[in-house]
Amino acid sequence: MTTETKGDSVLVVKNLSKVFYLGLFRKRVEAVRGVSFEVKRGETFGLLGPNGAGKTTTLKMVLGLVFPSGGSIRIFDFEGPTPQAMKQIGYLPESPYLYQYLKPLEFLDLCGRLYGLSAAERKKRGEEVLAKVGLLAAVDRPIGRFSKGMMQRMGLAQALLHDPAFLIFDEPMSGLDPIGRKMVRDIILEERKRGKTILLTSHILSDVELLCDRVAIVHRGRVSAYGALSELLRPEVRQIDIEIELPSPPSFRGLEELLAQLKGNVNRSLLGQSHGRFMCSVPGHAAAQKLIQWVFEQGGQLIELHEKRETLEDLFMRGALSATD
Ligand SMILES: Nc1ncnc2c1ncn2[C@@H]1O[C@H](COP(=O)(O)OP(=O)(O)OP(=O)(O)O)[C@@H](O)[C@H]1O
Ligand SMILES: [Mg+2]
Repeated sequence: MTTETKGDSVLVVKNLSKVFYLGLFRKRVEAVRGVSFEVKRGETFGLLGPNGAGKTTTLKMVLGLVFPSGGSIRIFDFEGPTPQAMKQIGYLPESPYLYQYLKPLEFLDLCGRLYGLSAAERKKRGEEVLAKVGLLAAVDRPIGRFSKGMMQRMGLAQALLHDPAFLIFDEPMSGLDPIGRKMVRDIILEERKRGKTILLTSHILSDVELLCDRVAIVHRGRVSAYGALSELLRPEVRQIDIEIELPSPPSFRGLEELLAQLKGNVNRSLLGQSHGRFMCSVPGHAAAQKLIQWVFEQGGQLIELHEKRETLEDLFMRGALSATD
């Protein structure tokens, strides 16, 4: 399917908000509070954030499943989630709802009809996507008998069926074992290689680091960080972990005194302590150099050195701390 867009962006969300009113007293729940971001053509974009941050609500507004309280959405060159825009989107919901009594190919045939595929296309694509998500062996089983992970794979199959230009996956790794997660990662990478644009939400930050070109981190309905991961993560070294071995009997007091000076610390609970091995942490290169020099002076040796830079998890936590009501 071709991408009907003249510009560089597939999705532009501006100042989007959603207020739900709950219960008899119509209690206000501000699920999304002025979220803006842009997904460029051909990129994999991650919408991240803790539980209840407003990710699914944002996706549902983009898809026209929830009506926004404010803000604007442009998909390709369409204002809002028009039927033409929707034809080019493949959506994997957070908890896919699938017809329990249909078998995989029957369900995909139904989806294919809704997407307007011909009978021949439906048969060909149905088998292709089932093979892709590893469900060919289950073609004779009604979907109601599927495990949680198999349901997730089935949801993925329907999202890919019409070969859409823009894929929106809400928690695509959820419920999957390591093999299933790798399969989803590979599918996302393959679709990106084919020029598809992907918007996904995930809590599995290692997957996000591997897959996403850019991210928006959402906390309490607001974007707390936005951009390329390489730009968002602070490049400076935060800490250096150094494993050392001191000759016996180890001069533990000397080590403690030096580390106090260097504003570092040592992990006393390490099993290796009795063999003179210690795991130390110091705040930067100058302190690391002083520690290593001291170790050599004692006749000890350096076992391992590891520089710690900011990870996506640190960024995530930083955003959580800065989020306000
Ligand atoms: N239909 C609804 N009615 C009332 N409140 C809702 C509704 N849908 C979502 N909310 C509330 O909006 C907030 C955001 O929910 P949302 O499902 O968007 O979060 P999320 O970021 O997707 O979380 P998760 O990581 O757990 O999937 C939550 O406080 C939730 O309770
Ligand atoms: Mg969600």
